[in-house]
Amino acid sequence: MDSKAADTWPASWQTLEHGIRSGRYIDPEFASLEHQKLWSRVWQVAARLDEVPEPGDYTVYEIGNESVIIVRLDGDTVKAFNNACPHRGTALAEDCGSFENSRIICPFHGWRWGIDGVIQYVLERDQFRDGQLNDSDVALREINLEIFAGFVFINFDKSPQSFDEFIAPVRQLIEDLAIGEMHHIWWKSVVAPANWKVALEAFLEGYHVPATHPQLETSSAEFIYGEDVSGDPPQYSHVDHTYETFTHGHGRFLGGQKTPMAGHTQLAGDPVDIMADRLNLLVEGMDAMILKEDVELVRSLKGKPVPEGSTLGAEYMKALYATAAAQQRPMPKPEREVLDQWGGEIFVFPNLMILPQAGNAMMYRVRPDGDDPDSCIFEIYSTKTYPADAAIPRAVVQKMTDVSDPEQFLQIPRQDFSNIPRIQKGLHTSGCKQVWLASYFEQIILNMHQEMDRYLQT
Ligand code: FES
Ligand SMILES: [Fe+2]
Repeated sequence: MDSKAADTWPASWQTLEHGIRSGRYIDPEFASLEHQKLWSRVWQVAARLDEVPEPGDYTVYEIGNESVIIVRLDGDTVKAFNNACPHRGTALAEDCGSFENSRIICPFHGWRWGIDGVIQYVLERDQFRDGQLNDSDVALREINLEIFAGFVFINFDKSPQSFDEFIAPVRQLIEDLAIGEMHHIWWKSVVAPANWKVALEAFLEGYHVPATHPQLETSSAEFIYGEDVSGDPPQYSHVDHTYETFTHGHGRFLGGQKTPMAGHTQLAGDPVDIMADRLNLLVEGMDAMILKEDVELVRSLKGKPVPEGSTLGAEYMKALYATAAAQQRPMPKPEREVLDQWGGEIFVFPNLMILPQAGNAMMYRVRPDGDDPDSCIFEIYSTKTYPADAAIPRAVVQKMTDVSDPEQFLQIPRQDFSNIPRIQKGLHTSGCKQVWLASYFEQIILNMHQEMDRYLQT
């Protein structure tokens, strides 16, 4: 379709001052416009460098109709090529692997390229273009690529926005957290029955935690689900969160000083046990962000007095940094404003979420599944920094089939995903014309849609 100018957009596509019209999540024409105007022009994460650790390693990234080969040439160079043979169009690679002998060979008629995309061999070359075939006619078509913080970003636009400009609002945050030095632990993908933005937005606020994850906020959950609603509601933890939005659609939120990571507890009992039990909910619920060894480190503080002027949180930080130093593991900058980001989230427009913790991070990436507005590809990555002498495993995705299956996903993602298909279903009903957004706690969602509109309307 021809893209419609903003003033001719149907009412169901509008981003409002306090909400989002539901057509943006369900209309196939809107999904098609996103492919034409957003995904074709925005910087997006195509891979982690851990997917291509050695020269010749490749991985394939797909979005909509696009298919891209990401290949490592040497220690410093990674390139992205359109995944189609210039002869008759055959996709040259699938999933991930290594190009043997640094050669890319088309399985249809055997044309061959180096991993730099330069043509090496065309069978019966004289037959093409009256014997005047130029190497440039049949080189693999390169796609713009930038490496940042262990991510391979690509952009399909022939003259894309400057990457430095695009990433500037979140660059320092990500660099200070040592995200680029974090490597693969596990990575799962699943196709989910919802628009990509529905799935993404379920992770762009902490406002859903008491109702969706009652085990993480018991007193608020008791108020929500309990029978006694006569008293005043308890203080929900999200009110302590700081939310910020940036230019180019990015955003972040953080728990700051009021988190268990900072040693803050409201419950009675031994503070070490409370903090360790609380953090262990994340180990058992996600196996990411907080790792088993982090909880053991907290427990090792049991019985040790907290020195005058210090806090349990500060003692835990000291123990973490001392252990990491002994293992020669890179760590985030040990500065208050960097550590405050632990337990929060950095959103990189349009579809990457980084949830940093103590030398590790969980990440989410969500993208459309083909051109279907009711289906998306959702991925979760667990990463950490490794000791200097440790072997780092190559990142290979585990393709999961069912988000509700406890064998495939732990409790916390299952809880989040229990809502996601229900949201998509509600959005399709004729009575659901728009959703409302909280001006402070859901501001990252609104900011994201406003930035999307800048792409979609030009
Ligand atoms: S299609 Fe690739 S060599 Fe013919
Ligand atoms: Fe959640």
